[in-house]
Amino acid sequence: MNQRRRHDTDGSAYWGGEASFMDDITLVGAGTACGEYLRRYWHPIGLARDAGDRPRKVRALGEDLILFRDGAGRPGLLHARCAHRGTTLYYGRVEPEGIRCCYHGWLFDREGRCLDQPCEPDHGAKHRHGVRQPWYPVEERYGLIFAYMGPPERQPLLPRYDILENLGDGESIEADDSSIGSGGPVIVPCNWMQHYENVMDPFHVPILHGSFSGAQFVAAMGRMPEVTFAETDRGVRSLQVRPLDGGRRLDRITEVVLPTLRVVPDPRLDHHGPASSIGWVLPIDDTSFRIYTAGRVREPGELSRQRSRFGGKMWFELTQEEHQRMPGDFEAQVGQGAITLHSEEHLTSTDRGVATLRRLMKRQVAAVADGADPLGARRNGADPLVRLDAGNYIAS
Ligand code: FES
Ligand SMILES: [Fe+2]
Repeated sequence: MNQRRRHDTDGSAYWGGEASFMDDITLVGAGTACGEYLRRYWHPIGLARDAGDRPRKVRALGEDLILFRDGAGRPGLLHARCAHRGTTLYYGRVEPEGIRCCYHGWLFDREGRCLDQPCEPDHGAKHRHGVRQPWYPVEERYGLIFAYMGPPERQPLLPRYDILENLGDGESIEADDSSIGSGGPVIVPCNWMQHYENVMDPFHVPILHGSFSGAQFVAAMGRMPEVTFAETDRGVRSLQVRPLDGGRRLDRITEVVLPTLRVVPDPRLDHHGPASSIGWVLPIDDTSFRIYTAGRVREPGELSRQRSRFGGKMWFELTQEEHQRMPGDFEAQVGQGAITLHSEEHLTSTDRGVATLRRLMKRQVAAVADGADPLGARRNGADPLVRLDAGNYIAS
């Protein structure tokens, strides 16, 4: 823990106390309260095309995994460490029935069953059935591969979302894994919650994106909105009301759907009506995350073209000085530290959305620890369709 420096009212400083973070809504490892909570949902761990005949490293919720696709076209997700003597399956060979470890040739199918032990008498026929390589169920949807890493008896249905269903003529679903919308590297080096709760912080938009980074979106988004927050049956939403020219009004709704979904309508306001994409925050481990997005598009590449620019440049083209002069979400969120120190914060009335999300998340984490199913984890027989409110709506 970090020692904390306090300033007395007379301006003198002294050291005392310990600065801390809320571990129940940040830490993602197996066995932690938050990690067990997150493991009760499906998470995207790759694009559909990431699963192929070359093993691919995946790190999710602090676990090292290997993704591949077997000869029948089915994706598989196994623990990287081979159940025999522990080398990584990253160097394995994908075969029609599964993946074969490079060291002694044990062959595992996509559910971790050991099908062959070539060094053993009779290929291990007597004993190989007693070995199971740890594995997780995966399903493909919306161009993404989702994994369930929790207890098998609690596995929920993989949800569908209304804004990504019932495509019109000429529409398709596109998936993207490039980074946070406002720009940054694919892997962002800070705790996932710093990014996630930012979605319920609409007040930073006119400051960070409307002033510091230049007018990153459109002029209307630079106006300070009137905001109301509400808990929903799936997360938290914010309604932001902004005046538009001609006496009209923009009602913009953004939502978070637990545990990691961000539903943010187009901030450039090119599209009115329901949001057209969903972003999932994947905690890689306690101090890094990445984002997978799926969206409804008319042209290939549309989703990735929605990236923000800073003075006409993409994020990765900026010099260090330009990052300082035009910071965006990456700079603000990574700038909070690897895991932000909640004990050192001073929340105010405009942090209501962040506080509401944290409280809801804490209640869900506690509910899972008490043996209940968390919000939105629907099981057999339930309707897997989730209806969302997010969108940009013009009112006069
Ligand atoms: S370590 Fe994998 S087969 Fe021996
Ligand atoms: Fe932002």
